[in-house]
Amino acid sequence: MLDKVEQKHGFIPRDISDEVARLLEVKLERLRRIQGKLDSTIRRDVQQHVSHWRNEEGNLIMILHAIQNQHGYIPREVAMELSRELGVKLARIYEVITFYHYFKLVPPGAHSLTVCNGTACYLKGSGDLINEVRAQLGIAEGQTTADRQIHFDTVRCIGCCGMAPAMVVDGKTCGHVKTSDIPGQVAVLKAKKEKVA
Ligand code: FES
Repeated sequence: MLDKVEQKHGFIPRDISDEVARLLEVKLERLRRIQGKLDSTIRRDVQQHVSHWRNEEGNLIMILHAIQNQHGYIPREVAMELSRELGVKLARIYEVITFYHYFKLVPPGAHSLTVCNGTACYLKGSGDLINEVRAQLGIAEGQTTADRQIHFDTVRCIGCCGMAPAMVVDGKTCGHVKTSDIPGQVAVLKAKKEKVA
């Protein structure tokens, strides 16, 4: 719109530029208020986690579990607040997060498909299932589709070795899975497309 005004007048009149500046300031103020609210929510949540685990040995891991349970992953701004609150270097916190496969640094997908790759499942062909999921989703294990709808992972054993090869789709355990079952399972998840933040 400003381009058109400039084309028409050869410059942007003072009253218009003042109005644009005013509107931008109003928007910025609104954004500052939203950011302030987010910051204080993060601070309050982190303080609660820290005070709950303060005197426990190995509390960093327990707090990280609590944060991941709350958000589904460890957001960077929460890790930064935790570093401040505990007086532990941010690098140390990231060392722990990246050491354990369980912790995630990006939001999980709206849906999940996990193939068991423990010994029993491996012997019954879980490798083929994994390859088929990779082909169907176009991603590797540990990754989430670009639209953040489906997260694909593998695990060591889900305790259903008698049903090997097994996998878990959105929390539901499926046993005696065949490679030919994978396209259908993926199609069902794709059809459940959900809004992600
Ligand atoms: S190894 Fe797959 S369920 Fe146990």
